[in-house]
Amino acid sequence: MAPPIATVGVVGSGIMSAGIVEVIAAAGHDVIVRARTNTGAIAVREAIDRRLSRLVERGRCDDNDRQATLGRISCTEHLHDLATCDLVIETVVENLEIKQHLMAELGRHLADHAIIATNTSTLPVVELAIASGRPDRVAGLHFFNPATAMTLVEIVRPITASDDTIAALHDFARRCDRQIVDVADRAGFVVNALLFPYLNAAIAMAERNTASIDEIDAAMKGGCGFPLGPFELLDLVGLDTSLSILEALHREFGEAGMVPHPALRRLVAAGHFGRKTGRGFRTYT
Ligand SMILES: NC(=O)c1ccc[n+]([C@@H]2O[C@H](COP(=O)([O-])OP(=O)(O)OC[C@H]3O[C@@H](n4cnc5c(N)ncnc54)[C@H](O)[C@@H]3O)[C@@H](O)[C@H]2O)c1
Repeated sequence: MAPPIATVGVVGSGIMSAGIVEVIAAAGHDVIVRARTNTGAIAVREAIDRRLSRLVERGRCDDNDRQATLGRISCTEHLHDLATCDLVIETVVENLEIKQHLMAELGRHLADHAIIATNTSTLPVVELAIASGRPDRVAGLHFFNPATAMTLVEIVRPITASDDTIAALHDFARRCDRQIVDVADRAGFVVNALLFPYLNAAIAMAERNTASIDEIDAAMKGGCGFPLGPFELLDLVGLDTSLSILEALHREFGEAGMVPHPALRRLVAAGHFGRKTGRGFRTYT
């Protein structure tokens, strides 16, 4: 039986990283953020500091808690600095080859007992597990965006994972105050397999001029009680990530509604990835 998870590494410095790091550090774990550059890792810590400082100003967070959370976060650009981790969560770009390459490197650098979790939205976890060289100690731990507000994690069990690994991730997720859903290693798991055909259908609807993107967003918020409309959500998730998710869903299930709409492909080809690049379906200043 592996020791309880105390020190956690988070690899990647994109949209998902800061939220995940904050949640884990706030729950009392030491967290090492690893990005390809030290500046990238420090930017994650700074983003958390900015968010927590705003909460302190509004009286929604105690300044001692802010300092304690930040004090548990360290930054590095070296994978070998993750050798003290009991768990490493990868949050890099949604690309199978890049994640497999990272998994192989993590497999070489981490302690034997360490578990590797992937935050992939759709990719086959078993293929990442095999690439790591420690397939029994790899599973999916799928956080949602932003992790500080969305408490769900999908714990994804590839056929290679051991019972101990899944039990350790359950224990860890509970200590991070997460709502847990267990799910098999199928593209999109539960949430994205249901969500992305809907988002793709919204693009098709706008393209055939049923209504504008503003009207479609307003209709889905007002009529279904969704907190965000489909175009707001696509721009928040990232259009490059959204395209990868639809491609992975279509590869696995072959359903017509999962073929990425050409309008999405064109935006991605133009480098318009949504909020993170300042332009997607809408423009952000
Ligand atoms: N965006 C979302 O709403 C969301 C929600 C849940 C899960 N996810 C998943 O989380 C993961 C990260 O998504 P994100 O939205 O944070 O992505 P992002 O595009 O914001 O960030 C990607 C990260 O990957 C790094 N990266 C890019 N190329 C790399 C390479 N060749 N080697 C190593 N690192 C590289 C980038 O530097 C960046 O830190 C993906 O697997 C995605 O499916 C995303």
